[in-house]
Amino acid sequence: MMAMPREDPPPHGAAAAPDQARLTQAVRAVLDRQGQAQTLPPDIRLRLAGPEDISVLTALNADAIREWGRAGLFMPMPEAFFGEMIRDGIILLPERAGKVQGYSIAFPAGGGHPPFLPADGHGKTGLMFGTALDPALRGQGWQLRLIRLRLEAFQEAGFAEAQSTVSPFNTPSLRNLLRAGFCVTALKTLLDKHPRFVLQHDFGRTVTTGPKHGLPLPQNGDLPDHAALLADGFVAFGLEKSKPVTLFYAARRHQDQGTGCPPT
Ligand SMILES: CC(C)(COP(=O)(O)OP(=O)(O)OC[C@H]1O[C@@H](n2cnc3c(N)ncnc32)[C@H](O)[C@@H]1OP(=O)(O)O)[C@@H](O)C(=O)NCCC(=O)NCCS
Repeated sequence: MMAMPREDPPPHGAAAAPDQARLTQAVRAVLDRQGQAQTLPPDIRLRLAGPEDISVLTALNADAIREWGRAGLFMPMPEAFFGEMIRDGIILLPERAGKVQGYSIAFPAGGGHPPFLPADGHGKTGLMFGTALDPALRGQGWQLRLIRLRLEAFQEAGFAEAQSTVSPFNTPSLRNLLRAGFCVTALKTLLDKHPRFVLQHDFGRTVTTGPKHGLPLPQNGDLPDHAALLADGFVAFGLEKSKPVTLFYAARRHQDQGTGCPPT
């Protein structure tokens, strides 16, 4: 399981280097297309982070954790971690008037970064998590845009699936991952010892099928009923921002061509 970075990050995973290069090339191609199609708001530029950006990234991370005012909803990320992500993956930065307004991480599983869930043998796994936006950029659909951009890049770089993790209690982020076609497939205590949903997007190899089960999602606790449904092979594909928040589960089946878990 991916551990928090050691002070002396492991040498660049020989396995990851070609995948990292392919992912970087794919992200650049996706950003070029976005630029040509002018799909991004004109005042925002998207670029890739370099080592010179690490201090801004750690500040955005610390601010987001402070705002949540509760541990476990967003993972603390030290400078070494951002250094490893820039070396082994990519960090996308929305920038306005030269000021970095957030970050979003993606990297190939392999090298020093095992997948969150055993890969399903269909090919390479991409890992994505850790988006933090300046409050000035929030509520405008940016996280969903950054999720879709990274998915497009992974698919373009020949990855067979993407995996992500999120706290079950981080409703805005969980909702955006489900909107982008991810499914919750597991509940684990990961990384910083807090419960996390693990989500998969397999670019269409599976779809949900059969009756839908809505399950209230309390805003804390260890979620035994959700853990039981997931252990029985059900996946969560949608969320309703009702009181309490409701997560919708269904069985999953493979199909030749589809859209992953159908977005709600
Ligand atoms: C979680 C996060 C990435 C969502 O990104 P986003 O692009 O703002 O997402 P959305 O545009 O879908 O907005 C989500 C909700 O944020 C709320 N929101 C709007 N403006 C906001 C603001 N300035 N501050 C906080 N929340 C705001 C809205 O209620 C919106 O809910 P709605 O869709 O019911 O209106 C962002 O809130 C953030 O950076 N949070 C701190 C770090 C974090 O928790 N990251 C998630 C890692 S898993």
